[in-house]
Amino acid sequence: MEYENKLVLAPMVRIGTLPFRLLAAEYGADITYGEEIIDHKLVKCDRRLNEKIGSIDFVEKGTGSVVFRTCDEEKDRVVFQMGTSDAVRALTAAQMVCKDVAAVDINMGCPKSFSVSGGMGAALLTKPDLIHDILTTLRRNMSIPVTCKIRLLKSSQDTVELARRIEKTGVSALAVHGRKVPDRPRDPAKWSEIADVVASLSIPVIANGDVFDYDDFQRIKVATGTSSVMVARGALWNASIFCPKGKLPWEDVKREYVRKSILWDNDIKSTKHTLKEMIMHHSSLELPEGKAVIKSDSLVDLARLYGVEKSYDFFVKN
Ligand code: FNR
Repeated sequence: MEYENKLVLAPMVRIGTLPFRLLAAEYGADITYGEEIIDHKLVKCDRRLNEKIGSIDFVEKGTGSVVFRTCDEEKDRVVFQMGTSDAVRALTAAQMVCKDVAAVDINMGCPKSFSVSGGMGAALLTKPDLIHDILTTLRRNMSIPVTCKIRLLKSSQDTVELARRIEKTGVSALAVHGRKVPDRPRDPAKWSEIADVVASLSIPVIANGDVFDYDDFQRIKVATGTSSVMVARGALWNASIFCPKGKLPWEDVKREYVRKSILWDNDIKSTKHTLKEMIMHHSSLELPEGKAVIKSDSLVDLARLYGVEKSYDFFVKN
């Protein structure tokens, strides 16, 4: 996998499942990250071929719930993002998925208490020795690319120092979210501090933060000096942000997302959550559409709501 000149779908918990990744790719995303999955959870899974829909599923033993679903079609561009605080466990988990994905990424930016209290996500940013341990262990034992995603540290100098240490582990690329750990999503991303990292490294840096339109890809590239850009909320609100000709109508994007959710038998809770996030941005959950999504119990309910019953019939018959 190459990391230069790429438009990248960011990892998003409960959003970045297979149908959403395929949707983003259809509109032009070159690399698509899956939602963060914790190593503890993956190591409790079995790998199964799902012959009905043609997917590869990692299914939790005991509960039978699908923790990670992928398919051949995305094998060359899907990145498995992992939450971890331990090199050996990270390697065990990475080895389970490495034949089915294009790369493995370690989340070093999540500020949520669940991650940080478990020593994962942004907690790693203060532990450079542990970062080194995790990344070198993965690098030495895996044949697919290993990367990580960080946030900015307190000073630009600190971020650059950490980024240089990360580069020395042999990772293939580094994604930098241009916010600091205490920053809120509404705070502007600091593109100039991403630029400092880009200027100090030789490996590709993927710039992330505040890309909401196709033109922003070019703006952030110029401002940071990198050629690869990652987008989260801009893609969640309209996945066709990756289209060079401009965004498609939101209604069409939503319908296509529901269609793909049905065809790939996505978890209804994940599909509803994603639709609710889209609706909250564009309108309101208090309006009839929002209420109907909240009330939906199954993918067939959503098929009726969005007029894609044919996809559901196809799914049932095949
Ligand atoms: C995220 N983000 C995130 N980051 C990560 O490394 N792993 C993850 O699983 C998630 N999950 C997640 C869910 C949702 C709903 C959002 C909005 C964000 C952070 C994300 O990848 C990105 O770094 C930030 O959102 C900044 O990019 P944008 O939104 O300014 O393009």
